[in-house]
Amino acid sequence: MTPPSHLAYVPFISVENMMRLIHSIGIETMLRELADAIEHDFTRWPLFDKTPRVGSHSEVGVIELMPTSDGDLYGFKYVNGHPSNTKQGLQTVTAFGLLAQVSSGYPVLLSEMTVLTALRTAATSAMAARHLAPKGAKVMAVIGNGAQSEFQALAFKAVVGIEEVRLYDIDAAATAKCARNLAGSGLKVTPCQSSQEAMEGAQIVTTCTADKQYATILTDNMIGDGIHINAIGGDCPGKTELHRDILLRSDIFVEYPPQTRIEGEIQQMPEDYPVTELWQVINGEVQGRTSASQITLFDGVGFAIEDFSALKYVYQRALKTDHFQQLDMIADPDDPRDLFGMLHRAGDAA
Ligand SMILES: NC(=O)c1ccc[n+]([C@@H]2O[C@H](COP(=O)([O-])OP(=O)(O)OC[C@H]3O[C@@H](n4cnc5c(N)ncnc54)[C@H](O)[C@@H]3O)[C@@H](O)[C@H]2O)c1
Repeated sequence: MTPPSHLAYVPFISVENMMRLIHSIGIETMLRELADAIEHDFTRWPLFDKTPRVGSHSEVGVIELMPTSDGDLYGFKYVNGHPSNTKQGLQTVTAFGLLAQVSSGYPVLLSEMTVLTALRTAATSAMAARHLAPKGAKVMAVIGNGAQSEFQALAFKAVVGIEEVRLYDIDAAATAKCARNLAGSGLKVTPCQSSQEAMEGAQIVTTCTADKQYATILTDNMIGDGIHINAIGGDCPGKTELHRDILLRSDIFVEYPPQTRIEGEIQQMPEDYPVTELWQVINGEVQGRTSASQITLFDGVGFAIEDFSALKYVYQRALKTDHFQQLDMIADPDDPRDLFGMLHRAGDAA
């Protein structure tokens, strides 16, 4: 059989190569660079194609497709969210994604995105906090100590300057795992027995729990003046983490309102409830934090542009290394209109 031409090959980043890439860059450097790359694309927000992600819901979870384009490159991510998966030894969130040239429609990258999603979510959260958290914040509570938690902690250390994380999870084994993984990171790690205890002395709280229901991870009495709330676990219809009273006291910042109104904490509020789009804060069009006593809430659900930025970043970084493979993924007949002939000749050669 004739070997495929170079047009057939698409660079592929496996989980193994993604981990090699992260270690070669250094995780905190990569989180900082990702935060900058995502922030840069937020400044270009108006030129991107935007649509709420397409979700296929079941009783146990959701499978979603997240597309966008900046007119030069097109990207999409496949991602699931299945909160009860961990009981069967499976992850709550898995993902992969693709980047393609708009000019030809040909893919330029296929990549694992389970690890990359954890990095981009943490980088986005920390980037938002850079604009919204109180100045000089040093202590963060992390409620929910599963797969995302260490990435969140390290991103807030690298991007915001957090020095202590106070951990709480309903499952003490998850907190122990998170504390173990963060030992030696340079963060002071304080395991706690309740959300209330985790909030003591914290200027920032990250909620990253997984439950397919309206949960109340934080109640109003736990949130003092001046706190920044980074709520990322409420990211699906019927799945929230904050008591409604907290939303009433907060200034709420979101990625893409048409998606967040379906999936975020604000699904608890009327459809026209006032929110601020984060990209406008980043562009200086609207103010972020305006006073030391203001409660700011980043109602983060994860938007396609963040995945696009992350894919573009690893595309630029990985292709300068050997941390990728070439996949024979695009059929490439000698005559572009003779796809059948290519198949036919392959049968003769077999
Ligand atoms: N916004 C985004 O961009 C984004 C991206 C990735 C994941 N997520 C969401 O973040 C959440 C966490 O993801 P993960 O991969 O870490 O999930 P995970 O299942 O690995 O961890 C979730 C943890 O939350 C804990 N938990 C559940 N209910 C709790 C409660 N009431 N109080 C304290 N802890 C509780 C669980 O014990 C578990 O350890 C999920 O809901 C996921 O859908 C959001």
